[in-house]
Amino acid sequence: MPHILNGKKVAQKLKENLKIEIENIKLKFNRVPGLAVVQVGNVAASSVYVKAKTKAAKEVGINVFDHHLEETIKQSELINLINELNDNKDVDGILVQLPLPKTINEDLVLNSIKPEKDADGFHPLNVGKLSISTTNNENLLIPCTPYGCLLLLRELNINLVGKNAVVIGRSNIVGKPMAQLLLKESCTVTIVHSKTLDIENICKKADILIAAIGKPEFIKKDWVKEGAIIIDVGINRVEINKEKSKLVGDVLFSDVEDKVSAITPVPGGVGPMTIGCLLRNTTIACKKNNKN
Ligand code: GUN
Repeated sequence: MPHILNGKKVAQKLKENLKIEIENIKLKFNRVPGLAVVQVGNVAASSVYVKAKTKAAKEVGINVFDHHLEETIKQSELINLINELNDNKDVDGILVQLPLPKTINEDLVLNSIKPEKDADGFHPLNVGKLSISTTNNENLLIPCTPYGCLLLLRELNINLVGKNAVVIGRSNIVGKPMAQLLLKESCTVTIVHSKTLDIENICKKADILIAAIGKPEFIKKDWVKEGAIIIDVGINRVEINKEKSKLVGDVLFSDVEDKVSAITPVPGGVGPMTIGCLLRNTTIACKKNNKN
C-alpha cells in the first residue's frame, strides 16, 4: 500500500498554526488580517472554491470582504474595485477567482493588484521573486496550489535533492510555479505539456510526478515509474449516472496505487492545501503591512 498523502489533515494543522499566529497579530496590532474575495459571474466550480475559501478564512480568524460581481461587469469597473481594495487599510490580501469572463483581460486585472496584497502570488513581481529567490520561502507570496503540493511532499520527510521531478502542465497557476519550487529544492525538473513528444517515456522516469492537466483519470500505470511519488492536482467532476457525479483526479488512482510509494487522493489531497496556502499568504501579507 502506498503512503496516502492526506491533504485534509495537513491543511488542518496549517490552519491551526495560522489561527494561533492570527491571535498573536490581533494582540500585537489590534487588528486581524483582511482578505477580499472577488468573483465575477457564476461559474459553478468557482462558486464552490470561493465558498470553501471564505469559510476557511473565517475559521482561522481572517476578515473576509466578499465581492460577487455580475458577469457583465466592465473591465474598468473591476479594476476600479481593485484600486479601492488596494487603498483599503483593512484589506491585506486580494483574491480574484479565475477564470474571468472572456470580455475581461485577465493579465491586466491581476497586474492591477498591489503586489503586497497579491494573495494568489500571480502578480509578475511575485512570480519574478519566486523565480530568482534562493533562500527559504518564508516571506514570499507563492501560488497556493503548487506551494500546497510542496508542503505535501515535505510530509514524506525524504531528501528531494537530485530527484527527477516531472510536472505535467505549464499553467501560470500550477505548472510553472511548481517547477520553480521544485527547482529551489534542487530537483531535476522537466515540464511536459500537450505538445511534448514522447510524454509517456518522460513521465516514466519521474521519481516525483505532478499531474496538473485537468483530464479525468488520464494517467495510468504504464506512465508511472515503480515507487514514484504522485501528486494529483486534478479536480474533475465526472458523471456516474444521470443523477450522480463524483470528483476524480488526473490520475487513475486504482490503476497506479500498487505501483507508487506515495500518492495524493482526490478529493482530500491537494484541494485543501490550496486553501490553506491562501490563508498563509494572507497572513504573511498582513504581517508585512503591519510593519509598514
Ligand atoms: N482558479 C483555479 N485555481 C485558482 C487559484 O488558485 N486562484 C484563483 N484566484 N483562481 C483559481
